[in-house]
Amino acid sequence: MILSLRATRVLLRNLNLSAYGKRTTSSYPTLGGNELLFLETDIKSQTRQVLKSHWSSSSTRPRKRSTLSFTTSKCSQRTFLSSSTQGQGSSDVTEDERRKRLMARNLPKREPIPGVKNTILVASGKGGVGKSTTAVNVALGIAAIEQNANVGILDADVFGPSIPRMMNLQGKEPDIDKNNQLIPLRNFGISCMSMGFLVDEKSPVVWRGLMVMSAMQRLVKQVAWAPLDYLVIDMPPGTGDTQLSISQLITIAGAVIVSTPQDIALLDARKGAEMFNKVDVPVLGIVQNMSVYQCPKCGHEAHIFGQDGVHGVAKEMGLDVLGDVPLHIDIRETSDRGKPIVVSSPQSPQALAYKSIAKEVLSRIKTEDLDR
Ligand SMILES: Nc1ncnc2c1ncn2[C@@H]1O[C@H](COP(=O)(O)OP(=O)(O)OP(=O)(O)O)[C@@H](O)[C@H]1O
Ligand SMILES: [Mg+2]
Repeated sequence: MILSLRATRVLLRNLNLSAYGKRTTSSYPTLGGNELLFLETDIKSQTRQVLKSHWSSSSTRPRKRSTLSFTTSKCSQRTFLSSSTQGQGSSDVTEDERRKRLMARNLPKREPIPGVKNTILVASGKGGVGKSTTAVNVALGIAAIEQNANVGILDADVFGPSIPRMMNLQGKEPDIDKNNQLIPLRNFGISCMSMGFLVDEKSPVVWRGLMVMSAMQRLVKQVAWAPLDYLVIDMPPGTGDTQLSISQLITIAGAVIVSTPQDIALLDARKGAEMFNKVDVPVLGIVQNMSVYQCPKCGHEAHIFGQDGVHGVAKEMGLDVLGDVPLHIDIRETSDRGKPIVVSSPQSPQALAYKSIAKEVLSRIKTEDLDR
């Protein structure tokens, strides 16, 4: 933003740095560590105040698009000053954009997981709606569609890992390579990593925030994934620390939200999608799970959890429905047996539903890659 000379003078005149004596910028390096820190904090808060009051007076309101440019290129406050003034006084910046900028300011830079091309999250605000079942079958679906692709699945549910059982890898332990990286276990051609491989399935994990975060970091960054074309991450329920740190630490191609059609699940699915919007993770769409129960004997259909709830929410939120998966006993039984339906009965209507979702996911990632 280029401020008029007058506005710049107002800003500088109003910055009260008297507590630090009349020093010029070049003498700041002589200040002690704490003093410097206070000075920096002071300048920041004073700048905010001054800019706020300056722009609240209409006579000095700057023109819509302008650039702040009154620091030297080496000034340590340059980034702060420009980011804190962005959007101030300009009516075309929405509250939402402003909040995003504020949130982004102190976040670590997102990085791709080493050796992984596309990371896809499978999430929902609510527990037990079928995230893990969807994650596993969609990962297998992707592998079935793109037969030369390397596909992996990461179980990010530290407290209730499901992937070892669903992928029939229970009781196995990953080796460590010469670089001290965990080597993923493999089944059905999929590389898998889960906290369930590292702790006893029957003993509860009693960790708090920081321990969970460091476990997640290890599972994400210290695994020899390479080379992987697609990594599907099975997220725990909710919109808490794990979801936020994964969304903020790694580059994500997109998130798939899973929900059943009942109101209580939709409420949480909406929260999940909104959280991803806030942290700038593209939501690829919503999967409607268990919308129709099919009796395996007579074929009778019933809508136990409601019929079309996900479609309504998707429409309201401007999202696509990636597919419908029926509530079917074969899906549950095959998951529990560690032979997911996409591999155990690949031509069944249930497996085809998952493959069709995998296709939708792939098409959206490719479109986004092209757009980037
Ligand atoms: N479409 C379906 N038809 C029948 N059973 C299903 C279907 N989807 C999921 N299930 C079953 O529902 C149960 C919960 O599914 P799943 O573990 O995938 O949910 P989740 O959302 O990952 O749960 P959590 O929040 O605890 O991680 C499992 O027993 C699974 O086999
Ligand atoms: Mg799960």
